Amino acid sequence: MALSNTSQAAIITTAFFLPLITYFVYNRPQPARGPLPPPTPIIDLYIYPIKSCHGISVPKARLLPTGLDLDRQWMWVTYPDFKFLTIRNLAKMTLIRPSYDAESDLLTVRAPRGGEGLSEASEIENEETIGFEIPAHPTQEWLQENCTIVDATVWRTTTPAYCYPTTLTAPFNDFFGKEVRLVYKPPVSESPRALVGNGSKEMLGREASTCFADLMPVLVGCESSIEELKNRVIKAEGENGAEKLAFDVRRFRPNILVRGYEPWAEDRWLKIRLSSPSNQEKGFDLDVVARCARCHVPNVDPETGKAHKRQPWDTLMKYRRVDPGINFKPCFGMLCVPAEGGEVEVGGKLEVVEMTDGHRYIAGM
Ligand SMILES: *[C@@H]1O[C@H](CO)[C@@H](O)[C@H](O)[C@H]1NC(C)=O
Ligand SMILES: *[C@@H]1O[C@H](CO)[C@@H](O)[C@H](O)[C@H]1NC(C)=O
Repeated sequence: MALSNTSQAAIITTAFFLPLITYFVYNRPQPARGPLPPPTPIIDLYIYPIKSCHGISVPKARLLPTGLDLDRQWMWVTYPDFKFLTIRNLAKMTLIRPSYDAESDLLTVRAPRGGEGLSEASEIENEETIGFEIPAHPTQEWLQENCTIVDATVWRTTTPAYCYPTTLTAPFNDFFGKEVRLVYKPPVSESPRALVGNGSKEMLGREASTCFADLMPVLVGCESSIEELKNRVIKAEGENGAEKLAFDVRRFRPNILVRGYEPWAEDRWLKIRLSSPSNQEKGFDLDVVARCARCHVPNVDPETGKAHKRQPWDTLMKYRRVDPGINFKPCFGMLCVPAEGGEVEVGGKLEVVEMTDGHRYIAGM
């Protein structure tokens, strides 16, 4: 029996357009063929509880869909418009040191009063400091009683957040030289901050969100690449010059630092799997959604809050403008979105599950 014209048209349309639509809707690049490298060890883990403030090195951390637990769940904002404040505006923000006590589950936030004259981490003990303590995993009741809900902005995304009372944060107005507020975004939220760009639902094929990270939940870096960069900086600045530029990986603010392979092999990762020593056989996957395009922040020494005039920016600009989507900026590290949660541990392993030649950063922030 012959099909009606409409049915024929429908079949043709579907057969022809469906693959095209699917291609454009879920636009993950094709995995590349070829052998995959052996697993590489996880050598450090970092959380940065308050966006742009000092990081904490931890032996293990819980990976949530939004990123490592306690990572960038807090953020300093302007008042009265609640716009994000970062190292880009104020390098000395890295002198604000959060610390976490698992036993009391408290986050303590300390900074030198006025933010001047502090050159060593140890000096914070003797300096006159300002600060406060807050629950690291506050209950709904705590937040409702003690905070107000405001709309906080990171780049071009605005999201509801809990704003702490000035009775806690007022001393920080002097540190910043203007009125500021501290806001909090719980990792589980009724109004999650959806990922954009390469992490959007159209690109990733699922809904994912993060708290106050610039773009994506997790940044993975490789020690082998930092070493290679460091050698180039030494060549450019001389041994003495480079020594002055303490090469702390925290300049790049990664969450997960692995040993790595030949330098910059991570540029082609598309999917990775993490596993813990205690949990060898069952790992969990993260989608690698983009290279991380950098600004001048890595020039800031996180210990002193002082920015180097040239490095490592100048060196990076010479050879790391590798992403066709954003070739006016140098890249370091890979931005990832967890597909599942789990426990990440120093001593655990990272395995590359898929590689690609199709990475192309899209803005959207
Ligand atoms: C509000 O904060 C205060 C001070 O930390 C605390 O004692 C109180 O229990 C909090 N409210 C709730 C409902 O948890
Ligand atoms: C990111 O988006 C660009 C532009 O749509 C695309 O070409 C690229 O494949 C995407 N990368 C990933 C890993 O999704």
